[in-house]
Amino acid sequence: IPVDPFDLVLFGATGDLAQRKILPALYHRFEVGQMPEQARIIASARSDMESHAFREHVRSGLRDKPEVKAEILDRFLERLEYVAVDALGETGWNCLREMLRPDVVRAFYLSVGPGLFPEIAQRLHDHGLATPDSRIVVEKPFGHDLESAKALNEGLRRCFEERQIYRIDHYLGKETVQNLMALRFANSLFEPLWNASHIDHVQITVAETVGVEGREAYYDRAGAMRDMVQNHLMQLLCLTAMEPPSKFVPNAVRDEKVKVIEALEPVEPGDIARGQYRPEKGGDGYLDHVGNPDSRTESFVALKVHVANWRWAGVPFYLRTGKRLRARESEIVVVFRDPPHTIFPNVGHLHGNVLVIRLQPDEGITLSTTIKDPGPGGFRLADVALDMSFAEALGGNVRAQDAYERLVMDVIRGDQTLFMRGDEVEAAWAWVDPIVHAWEDSRDRPSPYDPGSSGPEEALMLMHRDGRRWRQIGG
Ligand code: BG6
Repeated sequence: IPVDPFDLVLFGATGDLAQRKILPALYHRFEVGQMPEQARIIASARSDMESHAFREHVRSGLRDKPEVKAEILDRFLERLEYVAVDALGETGWNCLREMLRPDVVRAFYLSVGPGLFPEIAQRLHDHGLATPDSRIVVEKPFGHDLESAKALNEGLRRCFEERQIYRIDHYLGKETVQNLMALRFANSLFEPLWNASHIDHVQITVAETVGVEGREAYYDRAGAMRDMVQNHLMQLLCLTAMEPPSKFVPNAVRDEKVKVIEALEPVEPGDIARGQYRPEKGGDGYLDHVGNPDSRTESFVALKVHVANWRWAGVPFYLRTGKRLRARESEIVVVFRDPPHTIFPNVGHLHGNVLVIRLQPDEGITLSTTIKDPGPGGFRLADVALDMSFAEALGGNVRAQDAYERLVMDVIRGDQTLFMRGDEVEAAWAWVDPIVHAWEDSRDRPSPYDPGSSGPEEALMLMHRDGRRWRQIGG
């Protein structure tokens, strides 16, 4: 179904994210007919450039992708204009204002560093570009700590109302992340068991094989806690732990997520493991990549977290994320309690009921169940998996939408469900700040780990000492 006609102004249009994610996402939505005839994308950056030169720049980035069709790309590029605008000066703003049409949805997408959010918001306001219904979209990092996040929120709210602000966490646009809500709240099977009486613990893993090359300066200031846990893992935790919202509408969903963050207990130092990847054989490690032999920034972190409320009392959530690990794999693992009494003694310890929600790659769910082993040798039990890949189950040829495709269209539709609210971001920083500040104040270093491993030994110990085990990364 096409969305309403729109003018989307993309600031930072020559930057990496715009070229790699946002413009391809818009192309794909155009291809499937979701962009109406009157939709227009106005790209903007500091460099002086004619629209046709910018279109050629976008064409050269897209044309070699196998899924891009030349004829459709030509038509898509006709929707693109370019205007040079100086985010920190006065150049270009009047020209931009004259291009905008009064009667279509107006969205300003700030694909720029957070330092520019308040500056651009103010100029949009001062030059009369922002209407009461305009939307403003901002990317992470949304601040570096609570104080800076508050300042960004204040800067945006001086010129826009909360209902106009779309803070992107691209994990919320991923298919399986939304599926988590469908799985929990559109089935009657799981929710009655989704609590401390039936769940032993939950594991959330976001493992990556890439290192920090290409974004060393940013990463070395951030580290895994700020780069991944404050946002992506926190969102996964919220969707796993939250109470059922009364309706699937933005503020009902976001209210429930905020309650989870506010219920998080401060993490004990002994419940955290930090790591930094070592040099590869004959290659470089984290410290070489960031060019700082003294860096104490973590490229891996694992934590044991408690959500202090009735539903989750005593149920640990183990979170971990890191760079240069064994495989690129993100999953939520819900481990159910053993049956209260066994009538099958002497069968050894089985894993029992484990629900694995795979976010990437190969999105799907696996539910392990215990059955009788059909083999010889008397009555024995075995774990088997009910395994479903969404791509296979839902009939093959549908191209998986990238998270940005969904999120950009939601901005045009005016649906904030998959975007973070200001208080949510601040609550997440308020929980993260004491952890990272304690690291900054101590002289301790993260533990080294081998590239291609599952992280440092301490992360394994975090579970072992509780008599539990991580699910292995990469199968
Ligand atoms: C980004 C982080 O937000 O998410 C990166 O800044 C990380 O460090 C990326 O690599 C992971 O996203 P995805 O979609 O590849 O899992």
